[in-house]
Amino acid sequence: MAFNTIIYETNNGIGYITINRPKALNALSEEALTELSEALDMAAKDDDAKVVIITGAGGRAFVAGADISAMQHMTAVEAYDYARLGQTTYNKIQDMPKIVIAAIDGFALGGGCELALACDIRVASAKSQIGIPEVTLGVFPGFAGTQRLPRLVGTGIAKEMLATARKVHADEAKEIGLVNYVVDENPLAKAEELAAQICKNSMSAIALGKKAMNEGMEMELKKGIEHEASLFAVAFTTEDQREGMTAFLEKRPANFK
Ligand code: HXC
Repeated sequence: MAFNTIIYETNNGIGYITINRPKALNALSEEALTELSEALDMAAKDDDAKVVIITGAGGRAFVAGADISAMQHMTAVEAYDYARLGQTTYNKIQDMPKIVIAAIDGFALGGGCELALACDIRVASAKSQIGIPEVTLGVFPGFAGTQRLPRLVGTGIAKEMLATARKVHADEAKEIGLVNYVVDENPLAKAEELAAQICKNSMSAIALGKKAMNEGMEMELKKGIEHEASLFAVAFTTEDQREGMTAFLEKRPANFK
């Protein structure tokens, strides 16, 4: 499918989703969000994409936010619909039975920070700056940032980032757990290295483990632990469980399909 604002391609078991509006620092217009949503649907069902990497075109930004010019004259009802469009799109990343990695090279602000937060793993270049500066615009994060940021870094740091609007530099982002890795300049290469490691393992087991973590985070601890056991049982209905354990006992590498 041809998109105007998104590039979707696959290579070597990886699905690449590139936000491609470099002149606007990849700001997410309604069209970009709609196309991102479609690209995520494609990646979810694409057997050539075992792992998905989301990145931004142009070398200056991952995504500099939701499109401010598109939001300027919105009514409250339109703003609600726009927030829901972004939220439901980002939820597709959370719900996808594959690992999604954000490769951040530059600004990840507002809706861009929230897009990275929806991903499972975040890798950033040293020049990257991550923040939720919406309060400078008289609004606040509406693509689930008020929910996912405190869950990732804790409410103290999240509220500080919300209220000060400051952009957190890559090294500090690593320190506070906002990104997994900081690399000098090529976050895509680091994301591909992680993807290659992931691709060696059981995709069905990864999908079940991701589901257990995501759903468990929304449960009371002992319910989450019980839920883990149910999903653990599901792993024993898979070919990968037989292959993985047999391969170990036969002292050979597992050959997951
Ligand atoms: C629309 C944007 C944009 C955005 C940048 N641009 N961010 N357009 N929406 N979020 C455009 C600029 O208008 C400019 O277009 C071009 O990209 C280059 O940006 P500059 O500002 O000229 O670059 P620079 O001086 O280097 O500053 C980079 C920057 C700054 C610090 C990232 O652009 C910036 O502060 N952007 C806004 C960041 C932000 O507030 N994000 C949160 C948005 S609200 P022209 O045509 O002039 O070249 C949000 C809400 C989410 O995300 C929830 C919604 C429900």
